[in-house]
Amino acid sequence: MNIALLGFGVVGGGVYELCRKRTDLSLRRVLVRSDKPEIASIATRSFDDILSDPSIDTVVEVMGGIHPAKEYVCAALNAGKHVVTANKALIAACYDELIALARKNGVALRCTAAVGGGIPWLINLERVKRLDSLSQVGGIMNGTTNFIMDAMHAAPVSFADILKKAQELGYAEADPSADIDGDDIRRKLAISANIAFDTALSETEIPTFGIRTVTDGDIASFQRRGFVCKLIATALRCEDGVCAFVEPTLVSRQEPEAAVPANYNLITYTADAIGRQSFFGQGAGRFPTAANVVQDCLDVLGGKTAFYSVPSAAAKLCADAVAHPYYVRTAVMDPWLTSITADHWEGGVITSAVPVGQMLRWAKERLAADPTCFIAGIR
Ligand code: HSE
Repeated sequence: MNIALLGFGVVGGGVYELCRKRTDLSLRRVLVRSDKPEIASIATRSFDDILSDPSIDTVVEVMGGIHPAKEYVCAALNAGKHVVTANKALIAACYDELIALARKNGVALRCTAAVGGGIPWLINLERVKRLDSLSQVGGIMNGTTNFIMDAMHAAPVSFADILKKAQELGYAEADPSADIDGDDIRRKLAISANIAFDTALSETEIPTFGIRTVTDGDIASFQRRGFVCKLIATALRCEDGVCAFVEPTLVSRQEPEAAVPANYNLITYTADAIGRQSFFGQGAGRFPTAANVVQDCLDVLGGKTAFYSVPSAAAKLCADAVAHPYYVRTAVMDPWLTSITADHWEGGVITSAVPVGQMLRWAKERLAADPTCFIAGIR
């Protein structure tokens, strides 16, 4: 396989190192934005050098972002080159368009590293579907937020201080909004749900509440009652479509999610015959992520060219199909919240079971009026 690599950052450097050790994967060109003396003989700043080179059969895109990654990926697919990408933003935003383009051109589009970094999650999701029917997917799919929540349970520390530490350790981005507001995990959930249920849900449809407003007081209150709070993504098959949502979730100390340490992920599917299977590991990082990229290349080399799923007729997103109680902390009660209040904890109230979509719509509006508001679903 003759590969062109788009991007030579953290993951690109890892792909380069792993390919160097192999005789069956030949890295011919690397698209760079600045001079890289260590790869001077194969580096180029021109994507056309790659597109017009008929000897390159596979483009590996690890530059991230939607533009110009989308233009490069579409051009590569149209030129009859296989594409392997780790770019979750691109796959989530252009899901059915890219799948259709790969099919039309008879080439592969693979993206195992886009969800779960180094965890072989999507590849097993694809595999289990050959024999079984999936009913639920999701879990802890963002390492930065798990690091923050884990640290806040280990010792009293403010959200702002632990976020700063996560940034210093290189877990959170300089602008950590995508992690702490839940956009990153929502993208991973959208891709996973679409593959699991053969849908083409849009990431922006999935109701989401992040962890930006959690306090050490909230955590102390949860711990006193035997709960651990984690940012959890959930998608499940329901009568009319798929119920998908992302929210801080209180799980009991005995649940596997409660024990997930530091910046690890724990991603789970449930299927009718085999029941629950979970995948634990590093959801980010140079070599874990690069390993999944290179595994995709080896799969394509071995003849695996179909996408993980074929999106079928439009499926509805039904966020109100599931209901459960919530912890809600807000500066001012309103009549709706009062009408569903079943109990009081130190900082907030506990509601009766509320449809998830309804609560997440309310919470989003509430944040505009009360930017300190925090909610958590109780599982
Ligand atoms: N920011 C992401 C995380 C990186 O913390 O999980 C991998 O997508």
